[in-house]
Amino acid sequence: TAARDLSGTRIVITAGGTREPLDPVRFLGNRSSGKQGVRLAEAATARGASVVLIAANLEIPAPAGIETRLVGTALELQSAVTEAAVGADVVIMAAAVADYRPAAVRGDKIKKDEAGDTLTLELVKNPDILAGLAAAREPGQLVIGFAAETQTDPDRLLALGREKLARKGCDYLVLNRVGWTEGFAAERNQVRVIDSAGVIVAEAAGTKMSVAGRILDVVVAGLG
Ligand code: C5P
Repeated sequence: TAARDLSGTRIVITAGGTREPLDPVRFLGNRSSGKQGVRLAEAATARGASVVLIAANLEIPAPAGIETRLVGTALELQSAVTEAAVGADVVIMAAAVADYRPAAVRGDKIKKDEAGDTLTLELVKNPDILAGLAAAREPGQLVIGFAAETQTDPDRLLALGREKLARKGCDYLVLNRVGWTEGFAAERNQVRVIDSAGVIVAEAAGTKMSVAGRILDVVVAGLG
């Protein structure tokens, strides 16, 4: 199928997982591979959208032919996405952003002998980028978030998603369960999409490319 139902649309997509440096050789990170965000970028491009991909530490190659900005930390991702969002029709925050970063980045490698048997790290909260984008969104701009949760009960997951959507103020939230083997890094995904009223508007299970297609169907309807 070659639906070009996103032509003329500018879409910003974040993908991957941020890494927050502790010292010159170490970071705090997460297991996001960036696959779902990259599939979204590819699928949106195939449907005619003009896409800017903001890629944080992808575990897969950046897609050829898509304008891509590489970022490392949450603060770098924030400045890149805030800039790219100007004039965009849609912003999709698929990246796993660290909620906290080390309070201070050490100039030299942390040594075992300084700390002894336990080492306490002080972390400070990162800005909630999605909430900031939603609060500042331009008229008609759609802002879409993801919620990756380890909750196994589908009803509890939905309730968590509804709370999160209300807190973030975005237009849609894509819910997916993550765990040791599900979600992050996997080839397949299973998601539900809720709208700003908390109503399930799409459910999809399959390859990350097919899930991307269903999410973009929601985008097309939302832009309607
Ligand atoms: O609060 P939580 O991390 O579960 O929210 C997930 C959603 O919020 C994702 O869309 C993620 O990209 C975004 N997020 C963000 N800034 C943060 C943390 C998460 O934009 N500091």
